[in-house]
Amino acid sequence: MRLLVTGGLGFIGSNFILSMLKTYQDLSVTNLDLITYAGNLENLLDVQDYGNRYTFIKGDITDKSLVNEVVSTKPDVLVNFAAESHVDRSILDASAFLKTNIIGVQTLMDCCREYGVKRFVQISTDEVYGSLGADDPAFVETNMLKPNSPYSASKASADLLARAYHKTYNMDVVITRCSNNYGPLQFPEKLIPLMITNAIQDQELPVYGDGLNVRDWIHVLDHCRAIDTVMRDGKSGGIYNIGGSCEYTNIDIVRLILTKLNKPFSLIKYVQDRPGHDRRYAMNAAKIHDELGWAPSIDFEEGIDATIKWYIENESWWRKIKSGEYLDYYEKWYGNLKK
Ligand code: NAD
Ligand code: TYD
Repeated sequence: MRLLVTGGLGFIGSNFILSMLKTYQDLSVTNLDLITYAGNLENLLDVQDYGNRYTFIKGDITDKSLVNEVVSTKPDVLVNFAAESHVDRSILDASAFLKTNIIGVQTLMDCCREYGVKRFVQISTDEVYGSLGADDPAFVETNMLKPNSPYSASKASADLLARAYHKTYNMDVVITRCSNNYGPLQFPEKLIPLMITNAIQDQELPVYGDGLNVRDWIHVLDHCRAIDTVMRDGKSGGIYNIGGSCEYTNIDIVRLILTKLNKPFSLIKYVQDRPGHDRRYAMNAAKIHDELGWAPSIDFEEGIDATIKWYIENESWWRKIKSGEYLDYYEKWYGNLKK
């Protein structure tokens, strides 16, 4: 199988590429990534072991002539991870989100159609469904899309475009919607790596609002396995929820991390809430389980222990990231929240 992966230098894409190359000997990957602030060549240093089974191309998924050139090599499948992915940055400025997350998806799908790529896999998110109340049933695939942030609105738009290309052009499209991922190589602007690295540095741990928002956590490798399953066996036009059935409040996650690192709870700093902050996400993943036989396999406590260990052992990776542009973003965003 010849895979074209877009956005493969980010958190989930790099874990996906590594696990696919390791699992399948008869598979090769081309990775097209713009190397934005979130993309990191260091994430895939280990793929050198795979020789010519891995090719990297630097570029933008909204660049039609480049995408045409890359897709003209007729990969079997395109898996699109490329996106602006952080809600807080989308609140500061939505422009890049609309460009990459919507126009980028249109560009990729147009080129796939032109060159007859057999399948297009759009990596989406639970955030397209909006927010749940404490007693609401978990999201199912037939729920209405009710995005609340510029990020989730851009992802929902891409899902609708993908659906339209399937209906209009009979294009073979599958969409995965996953809950919050954690694991190695996650950029330290997201909750779990931010809290682990701030705690290691004895810096404040900024908790939004009352800290009682709930997320449904899944280890990134369980997500990667689910994507592989959907890519191979999902029904054309199908949408598949992926989740860990593992709901935690943010404050419980933060306390768990501090406890495991043997750091004091006094590092916790409640800050002003994120505007439009979704209260709760929870995924019903019965469809992918019943139709395709996938279920998560990594226990949360074990996954968190391994993730904390990874950040302790890879301090130079995240210390390099936590400089320059990152510090400007941090000051701008968290500075605003303290006002
Ligand atoms: P990330 O921000 O870590 O990585 C995004 C990658 O896309 C980076 O390598 C970046 O350089 C690349 N990229 C951005 N704009 C690009 C462009 N215009 N052209 C080419 N490459 C570009 O994101 P992630 O957390 O790995 O998420 C990957 C995908 O999974 C996203 O589509 C996201 O919406 C989705 N998702 C993420 C989560 C999560 O918890 N992180 C959960 C569900 C779904
Ligand atoms: P995040 O990792 O940004 O993922 P998402 O908002 O896409 O689910 O945030 C996860 C939760 O943690 C969310 O409820 C917001 C909260 N949060 C904080 O309380 N403090 C922080 O500094 C960050 C980044 C997130």
